[in-house]
Amino acid sequence: MKKCKGFLSILSFLFVFVLAACGQDVTDESGNKNSEGKEGEKDKLTIGLSVSDLTLERWQHDRDFFVEKAKELGAEVLVQSANGDEAKQLSQIENMISQGIDALVIIAINSDSLTTVVDQAKSKGIPVLAYDRLINGAEIDAYVSFDNVRVGEMQAEYLVEKVPKGKYFLMGGSPTDNNAKMFREGQMNVLQPLIDKGDIEIVGDQWVKGWDANEALKIMENALTANNNDIDAVVASNDSTAGGAIQALEAQGLAGKVVISGQDADLAAVQRIAEGKQSMTVYKPIKAIATKSAEVAVQLAKGEKVTSDSTINNGKVDVPFIKLDPIKVDKENLVDTVIKDGFHSYDDVYKNVPESERPPRP
Ligand code: GAL
Repeated sequence: MKKCKGFLSILSFLFVFVLAACGQDVTDESGNKNSEGKEGEKDKLTIGLSVSDLTLERWQHDRDFFVEKAKELGAEVLVQSANGDEAKQLSQIENMISQGIDALVIIAINSDSLTTVVDQAKSKGIPVLAYDRLINGAEIDAYVSFDNVRVGEMQAEYLVEKVPKGKYFLMGGSPTDNNAKMFREGQMNVLQPLIDKGDIEIVGDQWVKGWDANEALKIMENALTANNNDIDAVVASNDSTAGGAIQALEAQGLAGKVVISGQDADLAAVQRIAEGKQSMTVYKPIKAIATKSAEVAVQLAKGEKVTSDSTINNGKVDVPFIKLDPIKVDKENLVDTVIKDGFHSYDDVYKNVPESERPPRP
């Protein structure tokens, strides 16, 4: 009997070994699933995703695509949203670290206040990926984003083409978001020479806390009052702030008359573009950044090295920067970009536009 038991255990060992070699799911003695089935590898990888604010439309898409890709790669994702609250983001991250995640992905609310939690993660051997927004002054392992300076240039280029001379209002993003500064840098690359020439006059310059639409609405109302409605262009840094500004313009009968930029191709924004109330947006294929980030996060979780074409200095280290290309979207190419890409449906985008005025379906 003893002999037989020994033989059986050799057999079952061989069986597990064969399954593992085939890369199939294997359940170990403690009942834990070893999804890779490789010797010495621990249970399923877990990635912590700390989202800045899921109340903004953009980030809901990011979360969905990220989780989908990570799952496909065999990892679980723990998602937490701080909904714009900096302190909450820090405690959520600490909580995730204590749960023993294998990699940490952060969409920062405040790019400058994450040093301590990143240090905590690193001291536990957890690699950190900055998702879309750079984290300054900390030893992060990778940064995946778009060319944010280019986004700002695209916004300003578009407005300048429509209104080469006139009064411009600058509606910056959240002052704590490093991206907001990069967008502004890009916008000024285009505007400064025209300001110097005297063609463009900046009649106001404000930053919108938390990228909040209501805050943007108030800022725009005040700017219109202060300038007796004499504003030709609004350089809005994203779609939520553009939305607030357009509400203020609408109240003065100016929607569609004042050119205004945006960013993110939010559904509400592309609907406004279809209706002629917003001039443009910058579409950053969210699926691309989310998918790439999920791949990089899984790589990091497995302890692999990340390669990139460029690096960006965050005040502490040169961070591998995976940079994706943004796309300019206006009334002319709505169908060929966001709709053809499946980001929004034709019916949703043209919901408020009479049938006779809609472009042909793709
Ligand atoms: C920025 C991001 C933009 C926009 C904004 C508000 O960091 O690059 O795409 O979504 O945050 O959430």
